[in-house]
Amino acid sequence: MIVLKTGRELKIMREACRISAGALQLVGKAVEPGVTTAQLDKIAEDYILSQGAVPNFKNYEGYPATACISINNEVIHGIPSEKRVIKQGDIVSVDLGAKFEGYHGDNAATFACGEVSAEAKRLMDTTRESLYEGINAARAGGRIGDISHAVQEYVEARGYSVVRQFVGHGVGTSLHEAPEVPNFGTAGRGIRLLPGMTLAIEPMVNLGKPGVRVLPDGWTVLTQDGSLSAHFEHTIAITADGPQIMTVL
Ligand code: MF3
Ligand code: CO
Repeated sequence: MIVLKTGRELKIMREACRISAGALQLVGKAVEPGVTTAQLDKIAEDYILSQGAVPNFKNYEGYPATACISINNEVIHGIPSEKRVIKQGDIVSVDLGAKFEGYHGDNAATFACGEVSAEAKRLMDTTRESLYEGINAARAGGRIGDISHAVQEYVEARGYSVVRQFVGHGVGTSLHEAPEVPNFGTAGRGIRLLPGMTLAIEPMVNLGKPGVRVLPDGWTVLTQDGSLSAHFEHTIAITADGPQIMTVL
């Protein structure tokens, strides 16, 4: 069931999203050579708690941390660890969210550690831009496939591939709710977009082939071919006046 949010609900949810965005920005600023992914996780958790919110990934289906931190060929769901040290040249995907007064925010971004290869930079730029293409296609009266198609078209035209095993999602009083928001598909297909829908749009883009595999830890998703991967995500609301990005400061 797709839940349309009222203006009052959107107002609370915007607060959850603002806290999520603040945490993501803080972590991004802390990405530097020598920092561990556990240290980054703690920065996120401390900030979210300081804002009167709670980290919404922690304990979600048994997930053990506040953030998912995925480096280079890791796509998503990397588990923070004291043993994992970030190096100059890494690309670091951070995904995290906050729950505030019963509503969820969810966002992600890939950060460069120092100078990264031109290839890595272009992958990150393309993935971020594809998110904005998807957001721009999220208009009342359109369909879910409009978002999916906009992302896929933008990514594939630049020679990259979108991950298919994981998708974006509705978000609200649950972190994951209907509908699914794939990063591939056909414009004009799928459920109709309506004002009050709140969606997490989150392209995961591989430099090589789209295939992924999961590590024996049961969480970490890697590219099958070992190529780099990037991930950007915003929580948005569909309004009569167009898409509104909620995960902003
Ligand atoms: N942020 C992820 C998503 O966008 C959720 C991570 S699952 C968790 O759907 F278990 F790590 F929380
Ligand atoms: Co999400």
